[in-house]
Amino acid sequence: MFPPRDVALNLLMAVGAVRARAEARHVTGVMDDPGLAAAMFARLTERVPGGVDGLRGARVLELGPGQGLGLLGRARDAGARCSAFDVADYADPSTVAGLGVDLRVGPAAHLPWADATFDVVWSSSVLEHLRDPAAMLAEARRVLRPGGVHVAYVDLESHHGGRREAATMYDFLRYPQWMWDLMTSRRSIWVNRLRRSDWERLFRATAFDEVVVDVDEPPCGLAALREQRYLDAVDDEDLLARRIVIAGRASPQAG
Ligand SMILES: C[S@@+](CC[C@H](N)C(=O)[O-])C[C@H]1O[C@@H](n2cnc3c(N)ncnc32)[C@H](O)[C@@H]1O
Repeated sequence: MFPPRDVALNLLMAVGAVRARAEARHVTGVMDDPGLAAAMFARLTERVPGGVDGLRGARVLELGPGQGLGLLGRARDAGARCSAFDVADYADPSTVAGLGVDLRVGPAAHLPWADATFDVVWSSSVLEHLRDPAAMLAEARRVLRPGGVHVAYVDLESHHGGRREAATMYDFLRYPQWMWDLMTSRRSIWVNRLRRSDWERLFRATAFDEVVVDVDEPPCGLAALREQRYLDAVDDEDLLARRIVIAGRASPQAG
C-alpha cells in the first residue's frame, strides 16, 4: 500500500460514478473455476455436520457469491436447497435460474428471510469485506435454525501487495486507525484488519457456540514476521492465521 495513493482512491470512491465503475469492474467469480470451487467446497463442508452428506435436504444460504455460483452448484448436486444473498447484482441470471438458486440482492443491513430458515450459512472471502461484520453475523444467526452452522472462509492477508512475504503480507497493520480510515473507509478492504481473535470474539458475541477455526499458516514462518516491528502488538496466534475457516453452531437458547 502507498498512503497518498490510497487516500486519493478512497476520496474518489465518494464519487458515485467512480464507485459504480469500480463495482462493475470488480471480478469476484473465482468460484466459477472448478478446481477452486471444489477445494473451497471441501473446506466448507468439512465443518457442516455430516459433511457433504449432511447437505441432503438442507437449506443452504451463501453470503456474497459474487459472480461465481460454483459452491452452490455443488451443494445442489449434494441435495441441498440453495439460496444466496449479495449486496451487488453480479450473478448471471441464466446460471441462477439453471441452478434453481433463490438469489436476492439488497442492502447489507437485512437478510430477506424469516428467522430460522436455514440449516447452513456459508461464505467465501466475504466477511473481510463487510461494512458492519457484527450486524451481518447477527443476521446470519437470525436466519439459522438453532443448531444450524455458519461456516466462513476469511482471507486475512493484504489484498494489495505481496501476500507471501513477511514484510508485506500484513502491511495494513502498519497504520494507526485514523490513517487507515483515511485510506480505506469507503473501500471494500476497510475491515480487513480484523484478526483471527477478532472473528472468534465476534462469532461468540453473536450467539454462535462451539466456534472452531481452521488455520492456513504463512509460508514465511513466525520468526520472519516477528522481525517486523509494526507487528509487535499482534500475538503469535493471530500472526499465524493468514487465512481461516471459522465455523460456529447457532446456540439453541438464543433462537
Ligand atoms: C471478494 S468477493 C467474493 C466473491 C465470491 N464469494 C468468491 O469467493 O469469489 C466479495 C463479495 O461479497 C459481497 N458482499 C459485500 N458485502 C456484502 C454483504 N453485506 N452481504 C452479502 N454480500 C456482500 C460483494 O458484493 C462480493 O460479491
